[in-house]
Amino acid sequence: MTYLEAITEILIDENKLKKKVQELGAQITHDYQGESLLLIGVLKGAVVFLSELCQQIKLPVTFDFMAVSSYGSSTKSSGVVRILKDLDDSLEGKHVLIVEDIIDTGLTLDYLYRHLLNRGPASLGICTLLDKPSRRIVDVKVDYVGFQIPDRFVVGYGLDYNERYRNLPFIAVLDP
Ligand code: IMP
Ligand code: MG
Repeated sequence: MTYLEAITEILIDENKLKKKVQELGAQITHDYQGESLLLIGVLKGAVVFLSELCQQIKLPVTFDFMAVSSYGSSTKSSGVVRILKDLDDSLEGKHVLIVEDIIDTGLTLDYLYRHLLNRGPASLGICTLLDKPSRRIVDVKVDYVGFQIPDRFVVGYGLDYNERYRNLPFIAVLDP
């Protein structure tokens, strides 16, 4: 069995990802000039994106991670997200940017955003690599978007199907 089994199409190749991450990093560097920035990665999907993005941000950067329950639980209908791993440090007075792999319905990020806003950050932004606007249920104000994609199930560059394919260096469509 090949490790690319069930991959039918490459939607975003390595070069395009690399260029986009450089662009986003430059934009973030520009927007937060003179500040330090705390990046919050949402485990596990955002790990690959965050690790590449942070290297393109030419500012004093720290990062922290959260794990929340998503697909396969009750979050889909209720919009209530369970925090499985919380942050190590306080957000009080810090410039904070949430880094996500993908916004689909928006339920996860909407909850996270409102939850983290209560912790008193100086500012709170959202950066997502991928956006599936056609699937949105709640409106989320996203500050940085890498790519808008159609309503297809994608894997790679951190995104998984049953925990597999996170290590692919590109974004691919999975055989339905
Ligand atoms: P939302 O709450 O519906 O916006 O869900 C966001 C989460 O669903 C993401 O962080 C992913 O973990 C997962 N997800 C949504 N679409 C995809 C996909 O196409 N591939 C892999 N994971 C996805
Ligand atoms: Mg995720």
